[in-house]
Amino acid sequence: MRHVAIGPVDLFLKEEGAGPVILFLHGFPLDHRMWDRQLAALADRYRVIAIDLRGFGRSGPISGPISIADFADDVAKLLDAVGIRERIFLCGLSMGGYVALQFAERHADRLSGLVLCDTRAAADSDEAKEGRRTLAAKVLLEGPGAVIEAMRPRLLAPATRRQQPDIAHEVEEMMRQTRPATMAAALEAMACRPDMREKLPQIVVPTLVLCGEQDAISPPEEMRALAAAIPNARFDLVSGAGHMSPMENPDHVNAQLRRFLEQESSAN
Ligand code: MLT
Repeated sequence: MRHVAIGPVDLFLKEEGAGPVILFLHGFPLDHRMWDRQLAALADRYRVIAIDLRGFGRSGPISGPISIADFADDVAKLLDAVGIRERIFLCGLSMGGYVALQFAERHADRLSGLVLCDTRAAADSDEAKEGRRTLAAKVLLEGPGAVIEAMRPRLLAPATRRQQPDIAHEVEEMMRQTRPATMAAALEAMACRPDMREKLPQIVVPTLVLCGEQDAISPPEEMRALAAAIPNARFDLVSGAGHMSPMENPDHVNAQLRRFLEQESSAN
């Protein structure tokens, strides 16, 4: 576990293992801990790194507006700062997937593969943008509870909620610990993110697209279409999971990740 300074920005990262690098990007408004089960499973053969994006978790606070592209550039600067010059595998969930797609566009030469979990390539509708701005104002007044209330009904599969209440608790604890100013800035960043659908055919690296079969935020039909638009992508449905598939069904996700990494790191 360490902090790395990227100019004035302080980023936190957790790292284990040795071998080809896979770097994980968390969703909104979470932090690196959402990937603990993947780090534990893959560190035997890979150098696994989970970071806290700017403002989140144990990284330093956000000062002023931020964009999804800024988050992606932070990742590239972080790789420079820790001396990773080899190509990496990048895995992002939801907001982390938005960042991964921006990274693929802006820093394509640093990638050997991409994993997109429970995420979207389309931009927000006008209605969704407005909803985010209302929520951002609310979270600044009321604190993280406003975001937790808004996201709770759609984040996990109903069966996860019933059978694994500890997962719901873990997710909500991460949310509760996120700074309201970070939440507001990231909501605005997501509202302003560009539509990446036109750019998907330009992604040339092998890509694994994972989607919880009951994901209510980035539904399977939309993620199937996302995968179909990327030339070298494979789609996989994560059984029993909602939007937080790596936490809800880690065995399935870890098996898919391992298979993908084994195949693609031996091909490189
Ligand atoms: C996330 O899980 O990162 C969010 O659901 C993304 C979003 O709100 O678009």
